[in-house]
Amino acid sequence: MKLYRANDYKEMSRKAANIISSLVIMKPDCVLGLATGSTPIGTYQELVRRYENGDLDFSQVCSANLDEYKGLTKDNEQSYFYFMYNNLFKHVNIKLENTNIPNGMEPNAQEECLRYERVIESLNGVDLQLLGLGHNGHIGFNEPAEAFETITHCVDLTASTIEANKRFFEKEEDVPRQAYTMGIGTIMKAKKILLIVSGEDKADILYRSLRGPVTPHVPASILQLHNDVIVVADEAALSRMPE
Ligand code: GLP
Repeated sequence: MKLYRANDYKEMSRKAANIISSLVIMKPDCVLGLATGSTPIGTYQELVRRYENGDLDFSQVCSANLDEYKGLTKDNEQSYFYFMYNNLFKHVNIKLENTNIPNGMEPNAQEECLRYERVIESLNGVDLQLLGLGHNGHIGFNEPAEAFETITHCVDLTASTIEANKRFFEKEEDVPRQAYTMGIGTIMKAKKILLIVSGEDKADILYRSLRGPVTPHVPASILQLHNDVIVVADEAALSRMPE
């Protein structure tokens, strides 16, 4: 595991964008695993800037997002499709048909989860998976549990995740209670993983994820077992980590 320290959110975003850019340059038809949440917004802005400067070309890139709320349409402002479209896709030359996100409007969870696994397989897997970190250690929407769920599945969101994500919705009741998410096994199959973490409120969970025991109670702790993980975190998030 490589750990890159950044002074602040801005530098974290730049460093993460540099890593993603280097892959897009070296492998123009790469498969990017993408994430939502507030953490990757700066990284996407940096990628857009590099594209606008003429340094990046997404025309052959494919993407697969980690997760999507169940029951939200694509044009719902809180859907992860909407997030991806507005924060990245519409600003660069990625082809929309090359982008993949679980379909939150498919009511049949089993069918949708299998379909999504097949999509990832048909892309020959994810080259680089970008991840944020939930306050309870969740990655994607893999919530703390008694066992690691391996493949894409439908998850009941925990009270703490609903609480954390309600800031994006008008009222707490509007936060969907379920989501489709890549499983831990799906994430671990990515050839490279890039975990980005910012802010003091993540310091404790980052420490437990990287230095604590590997346990499904802290889903991100599984990353300790992946052989190609890069962590880019700012000083506030690293405040519990020894130098
Ligand atoms: C959401 C997403 C995760 C994300 C997490 C952290 O629940 N499903 O993929 O990593 O929130 O979000 P933030 O970056 O806003 O702290």
